[in-house]
Amino acid sequence: MSDVYTPEFDPETGKPLRKVRSFVLREGRLTKGQERAMEELWPRFGVEYQAQAVDPAALFGRAAPLVVEIGYGMGGSLLAMAAAEPEKNFLGIEVHTPGVGALLMGIEEKGLANLRTLHHDAVEVLEHMLPDASVDRLQLYFPDPWHKKRHHKRRIVQPAFVALLARKLKPGALLHFATDWENYAQWMLEVLAAEPALVNESAEGGYVPVPAWRPHTKFEARGERLGHGVWDLLFRRA
Ligand SMILES: C[S@@+](CC[C@H](N)C(=O)[O-])C[C@H]1O[C@@H](n2cnc3c(N)ncnc32)[C@H](O)[C@@H]1O
Repeated sequence: MSDVYTPEFDPETGKPLRKVRSFVLREGRLTKGQERAMEELWPRFGVEYQAQAVDPAALFGRAAPLVVEIGYGMGGSLLAMAAAEPEKNFLGIEVHTPGVGALLMGIEEKGLANLRTLHHDAVEVLEHMLPDASVDRLQLYFPDPWHKKRHHKRRIVQPAFVALLARKLKPGALLHFATDWENYAQWMLEVLAAEPALVNESAEGGYVPVPAWRPHTKFEARGERLGHGVWDLLFRRA
């Protein structure tokens, strides 16, 4: 069984365990196909959350460069990337159940052997499950913008989060963000530039053109319909 929920309160002390989360789960109904995928395909392509480090190669049955994507939404762009780079292992992390179901259906349809998913808060997965210096590319595309100022604390990109991501990267590995909110892009740039373990791949110290490996995403298309711009940020672990 996939399990996205962790207790909000310590069962013993009753105290809140944390934390401002980057998401609020508003689960719509699953389609029949997504429901079937969660039952039948999860055991094959789903990875159970556990609060201790795992060997990423063991999740795929082979050692290969590891790409991790946080918040893949309905999974369309992650499926395309995994199909385009079969020599890499892809691990998606998403909390939204219909998205996880849709990704599982896509893995089966496309016959992908190099894509697995977790159904859990990516912050906890990174904190507890992925070893340090284990990831070749970390991707975060169009994270929830939480555009009201009083909600900015919910934005997933924060200094401590970026420091955590940097620790998970192998030396020389890439961290790739994209957003369609200019104000979030500026904040991302500020936080990334302030992280001493990371170096900007943009010679001018700003944004980069969309790298060849990133397809259009669903949220990107929505932003474009609303007239938003798009900003890609690419940093390398020193
Ligand atoms: C705005 S959507 C973007 C989806 C996709 N990347 C795209 O561009 O179409 C953000 C996604 O991140 C997921 N998300 C937010 N916080 C998360 C977290 N802490 N762990 C895992 N997924 C998260 C949400 O459920 C949502 O599907």
